[in-house]
Amino acid sequence: MAQSDYDLSRPLEKGSGLRQGLTSYGDSHFSLFLRKAFIKAAGYSDDALSKPVIGIINTYSGFNPCHANVPQLLEAVKRGVLLSGGLPIEFPTISLHESFASPTSMYLRNLMSMDTEEMIKAQPVDAVIAIGGCDKTVPAQLMGGISANKPLIPLITGPMTPGSYRGVRLGACTDCRSNWAAYRAGTIDLEDIAGVNEELAPTSGTCGVMGTASTMACITAALGLIPLRGASAPAVSSTRLRVAEETGTIAVTAAKSKMRPQDILSKGSFLNAITALQAIGGSTNAVVHLMAIINRHPKLAGEITLSAFDEIGRRTPLLVDLKPSGDNYMTDFHNAGGMLALLHTLRPLLDLSAKTVFGKTLGELLDATPFRPFDLSRQIIRPLNDALYEASSLVVLHGNLAPDGAVMKASASKDRRLLNHSGPAVVFRNTEDLSRRIDDPDLEVTPDSVLVLQSIGPQGHPGMPEAGLIPIPRKLAEKGVKDMLRLSDGRMSGTAGGTIVLHISPESNIPSSALGIVKDGDNISCSLQDRKLELHISAEEIARRVEERRRTTTSEDSVPVRGYRALYMSHVNQAQDGTDFDFLTAKGGRI
Ligand code: FES
Ligand code: MG
Repeated sequence: MAQSDYDLSRPLEKGSGLRQGLTSYGDSHFSLFLRKAFIKAAGYSDDALSKPVIGIINTYSGFNPCHANVPQLLEAVKRGVLLSGGLPIEFPTISLHESFASPTSMYLRNLMSMDTEEMIKAQPVDAVIAIGGCDKTVPAQLMGGISANKPLIPLITGPMTPGSYRGVRLGACTDCRSNWAAYRAGTIDLEDIAGVNEELAPTSGTCGVMGTASTMACITAALGLIPLRGASAPAVSSTRLRVAEETGTIAVTAAKSKMRPQDILSKGSFLNAITALQAIGGSTNAVVHLMAIINRHPKLAGEITLSAFDEIGRRTPLLVDLKPSGDNYMTDFHNAGGMLALLHTLRPLLDLSAKTVFGKTLGELLDATPFRPFDLSRQIIRPLNDALYEASSLVVLHGNLAPDGAVMKASASKDRRLLNHSGPAVVFRNTEDLSRRIDDPDLEVTPDSVLVLQSIGPQGHPGMPEAGLIPIPRKLAEKGVKDMLRLSDGRMSGTAGGTIVLHISPESNIPSSALGIVKDGDNISCSLQDRKLELHISAEEIARRVEERRRTTTSEDSVPVRGYRALYMSHVNQAQDGTDFDFLTAKGGRI
């Protein structure tokens, strides 16, 4: 009996026709006839076509060094599929690299998710392996894959190994930022910064610290969708290839048992993912991505909000000692036991009944794969009673400046006094204004000032750029100031650190936004303790300024747009909902 739902090996008997998919030509028998003709053109026999068809999403691109190992992974994945009795067929989707996706990769994430969803739906695949790694790729694939709801197994490309310059280990991209800050402050020279540049990204694979890519890989493991070591095995390692082979096997099993992501993923799975996010000191970007992923799930959309991140944070310690919150690199995390060690440690905080793609619950999976801690593992993945940071690595703030929420990675603060701080605002209207004035010797700013950057939200600077890490004004950096309280409606790279409030909602470009009407000298306070972000002017004054801004914004300010940008600008939702398009969420929207 044929095992593929699409059954392209079925003979052209009288009355037979396509059972699955669109009968695009009206006549389902003729549709089968055509499909058979064209699949034969690809060289497949009826025997091959009777097997479960495992689609493999190939996101290789010459512009994406984080995915440079995809050709080797493909070979290993296909081996796994074939050994398990499936037929592997690869197909491309968009590939996004952080540095080569203008204006931002976040702007294109939803496009990639649409590409992923529609190609999974359109093609005769019984299960899909999605190969991805760089920051926005895994979120886009999970968003699209959950919406398409065919069996889906992610395969992560894996982290880079660290480089070394003059005896100091280096890794993208926490060390990109710290070295650049040192160069700006004049403590290292041009020769050294050029030497560092050579070594920051020394192999293929994703950034080697707990940035967004590594965070999303760990989250995917916590969701029960990949082998646990698949979150951390280096891109250039035989383990990574063996994970790829195993992924092929898992996909064939998932195709046969029809394990769909909407059935596997429950509220418990996502609460586990958020627990893991807090324990690894993961990227703030993961908050936006997780909200987008959750809101793609018909049973969970609206069930988990930003507050869940804060509530889980209050009971979850930061355990993983990796940059930017700690000191080490992803390869150290892998050698210390990776997600297997971490999930065993977090066991009392997890929903062990959550399903996994292995057909076992998370609890059963952990029971079947014990882990014995050793000295190095305890240093990198701390026990619950010896945490790196007691609780609340990532916090959610509310207040009149962020009525719908804002996010801060408290564990990455470099000056903890700033976590409960108030001071006068120094406001930059947009990124151009920031780059024009931040190093101006006449800028009126002190270490107590609160730096505010407007217009980098989902709509304001389409794609919500990672410009939230506002640089310390040069004149203060030269005096040794390393951290200041900084606020914006944008994002920050998961590899960056400082006392930085991000994703302020509603963003400054929304007419009613309080962030949009902040002026130089307004007093702003941030209280980690009370989870508050407040602008200390009266509600009447806020309303007056909002009204004034409405009156003075002319229609000339809005210029016509076309193409994807028009779609993006009309439909992107706010950070607290995931910056997805309204019509892509499970609740849908109107075109
Ligand atoms: Fe791809 Fe950092 S640039 S993961
Ligand atoms: Mg990044």
